[in-house]
Formats: sequence, structure tokens, C-alpha cells
Amino acid sequence: MTVLVVGASGATGSNLVEQLLILGHKVKVIVRSPEKLPESWKNNNQLQIISASILELSDEEMQKHVRDCNAIASCLGHNINLKGIYRQPRKLVTDATRRLCEAIIATNLESPIKYVLMNTTGNRNRDLNEPISFGQKCVIGLIRLLLPPHVDNEKAADYLRTQIGQNNKFVEWAAVRPDGLINEEKVTDYEIHASPIRSAIFNAGKTSRINVGHFMASLINDNDLWNEWKGQMPVIYNT
Ligand SMILES: NC(=O)c1ccc[n+]([C@@H]2O[C@H](COP(=O)([O-])OP(=O)(O)OC[C@H]3O[C@@H](n4cnc5c(N)ncnc54)[C@H](OP(=O)(O)O)[C@@H]3O)[C@@H](O)[C@H]2O)c1
Repeated sequence: MTVLVVGASGATGSNLVEQLLILGHKVKVIVRSPEKLPESWKNNNQLQIISASILELSDEEMQKHVRDCNAIASCLGHNINLKGIYRQPRKLVTDATRRLCEAIIATNLESPIKYVLMNTTGNRNRDLNEPISFGQKCVIGLIRLLLPPHVDNEKAADYLRTQIGQNNKFVEWAAVRPDGLINEEKVTDYEIHASPIRSAIFNAGKTSRINVGHFMASLINDNDLWNEWKGQMPVIYNT
């Protein structure tokens, strides 16, 4: 398979790329600063590095990049500094998701492309009855007001859920929701749930970025796993 990864230079995205390469897939990455990528990537002929800022691509360029792909994965996230959180692009994840999906649809391919979005347990799957406490509702409301990246993550998943939906001829999707992200060297045991089993605010669990990369790569690689989770927002915790 050929897989396009956006957000590949990030802490989780780079793990996802490694996992896809281990599985033997061809990987294309669109990155703003290719010079920051590991040397081993630059010399890997299974990996194509496209130097661009994703939202600055024209529609035609976007279509050219998705045309030969079987799957697209986004690990985009706002840089955790004042510029990344409060300056443009405020809708980085949503706009990238929307424009990549529109590019897939415009290319009119015969079989649907998998779109795997990295999301967060701070977001609810409104297709399911996911109850949260009054306290959590208040805190999330405050986060929405104060932290634009949270709203962006919510809107990106909402786009897939409501605009792409469950029966799109061109795009199938899954939005993977990790809890508190940590860094680990190796893949460890992890568990997947349809909805959070703990409070993302008051009792957050841990999810290592390499496990997120492993699960996203497995969704792309394994059609049975894909059929189990497509159109859903699986939650991932380290065991
Ligand atoms: N922190 C947590 O506990 C937690 C929990 C659950 C979910 N999440 C979500 O997980 C996601 C990824 O987390 P992470 O730690 O892997 O993120 P990260 O290391 O900060 O990676 C972010 C990626 O997005 C890219 N990016 C940022 N701004 C961009 C822009 N304006 N244009 C193009 N690309 C841009 C970065 O590229 P550059 O290298 O060029 O900057 C990088 O590749 C985020 O959406 C976050 O909200 C976080």
C-alpha cells in the first residue's frame, strides 16, 4: 500500500511512519521542514518526502499527492507555544482533513481510501451516548473558550462524522482517541475501547505515542481491524 502521512515530523507522526515502514508499506510525507527528519528517512527509497506546508498546497497539488494513495493518516497538531495555539491556522487539523478528503473525492478513485485521524479523548463521539460529568462539561467548555486547538480537534472529527458519514463511496475514516500522551521506546500492550472508560479531565490514563502509531498503522494494514473500527472513534490506553 501507499500511505500519505501528514504531521509526520511530529512526535506521534514519526512513530506512525516508522510502523508503516516496518509493515512494508510505501510512505509519503508532507512536511514543512524536511531538514529536521531523521537521516535514515532521507535515504529510504520506500519513503517519499514532499516539502510543503499542507494548507498552502493548491487543490490540484493536493489531488496529485493523494491520487496514488490507499490510505491517508493525520497526526497534525498545533505547536504548543503561543503562536501555535493562538495564531493562524486556527483550523489546521480540520482544514487539512477537509481538503484531503475533498481531494480524495475529486480524484474519483474506484475503491475507498482509508482516512485515519489522530484525535483526543477530550472529544466525544456524538454518534454514541458518551455521558460526561457536569464538572467535565464545565472544564471542556472552558477549554473550548481558551484553547482553539481543542475546538479544531473537535471540528475535524465532526467533519468526518457528519460530512463524510458512514456510507461515503470515496472515503472511509476512523478517528483514534489517545488519552494523555507519553513517550516510550517500544510498542507495549494497549487496549482499544469504543468510548472512554475514564474521565479525560479528572482521571486521565496514559497512551504512548508509539502505541498510537502502531494502532493507526494496524488500522491501515489490517482490513479486519479496519472493518471493526471504521466510522468510529476508538479510544486507546496503554494497558
Ligand atoms: N498532549 C496530549 O496528551 C494529547 C492527548 C491526546 C491527543 N493529542 C493530540 O495529538 C495530536 C498530535 O500530538 P503530538 O504530540 O504528536 O504533536 P506534535 O509532536 O506537536 O506534532 C504536530 C505535527 O503537526 C505539524 N504542524 C503543526 N503546525 C502546523 C502547521 N501550521 N502547518 C503544517 N503542519 C503543522 C508539526 O509540523 P512541524 O514539525 O513542521 O511543526 C508536526 O508534524 C495533537 O492534535 C494533539 O491535540 C494530544
